[in-house]
Amino acid sequence: MTQFGQYPEPVHVIAHVSDTHFLGGNRPLYGKIQSHENLLRAIELLEKSGTRPEAIVFTGDLADLGEPDAYRRLRAIVEPAAERMGSQVVWVMGNHDERFRFATELLDEETTEAAATEHPQDRVYDVNGLRIISFDSTVPGYHHGAMTDGQLAWLADILATRAPHGTLLALHHPPIPTPIDLMALIELQGQDRLADIIRGTDVRGILGGHLHYTTHSMFAGIPVSVAAATCYTMDLTVPQNGLSGVDGAQAFNFVHVYGDRIVHSVVPLAQFAEVTGFSGVFMDRIGEMTPERRLEVFSNKTAVLTDEERAALTADN
Ligand SMILES: [Fe+2]
Ligand SMILES: [Fe+2]
Repeated sequence: MTQFGQYPEPVHVIAHVSDTHFLGGNRPLYGKIQSHENLLRAIELLEKSGTRPEAIVFTGDLADLGEPDAYRRLRAIVEPAAERMGSQVVWVMGNHDERFRFATELLDEETTEAAATEHPQDRVYDVNGLRIISFDSTVPGYHHGAMTDGQLAWLADILATRAPHGTLLALHHPPIPTPIDLMALIELQGQDRLADIIRGTDVRGILGGHLHYTTHSMFAGIPVSVAAATCYTMDLTVPQNGLSGVDGAQAFNFVHVYGDRIVHSVVPLAQFAEVTGFSGVFMDRIGEMTPERRLEVFSNKTAVLTDEERAALTADN
């Protein structure tokens, strides 16, 4: 493909999805939210884009009540789609998930409820040289987040060896402030200790969920990106002492990983009518021009096209 700008193709493309909150039997969440329909829409958009992400990272709250059937239904949607797109699936634990069901229903692991509940569900994935760490920030039986000494030691040990293309740390509770006081109550505790572990390592980005709205910040000098939920989102315009979940603004993020930076872009799930655009055919034809002519044709506000160019560029538009 012709390179139009100063940047080459990204080295990796990831899809970041969060907070699906599936219920067993496809029951609607709060009696209103069709979580599975929303996820199907996200998958439809991903496939329509032709992007073929190398990994789809789900940053927790996969099942609202941790029901086995909810995990099975989630897998039944995600895994065939991931197979079609050639994507790895990275599941991350959320406070609504149950460790035992997460391990057995999503990852086919053989374990006991006691063993799974006792051990944080932390895993490391290699995505063509990019390391993605699925880090379990949950506390069994609670909604706030925390990390054990053992987890932090494990993380430090993993990060002691640099990955070829660096590391993305994916955890449900993002280590950033929130303007929603009630969400602050169930934030990740002990963030200073996490900062001490990851500062100066090859962690290039932190992916989170939990907040149910898209937001970005920094933590220990590392960019943090939070994907909105696919189920329902938080209305940030309610008065500060309130919390309001709404059926709108659901989205996922594209994560384009370049050699020297990562770009996070929001993809809303809602359907919108196109009001302007250019087709792939147009792109192909403009790509055949010299860089100078291409800039002139597309950037010059008063560009004068030859008859031949006009015919070629408007044939399919
Ligand atoms: Fe959630
Ligand atoms: Fe959560």
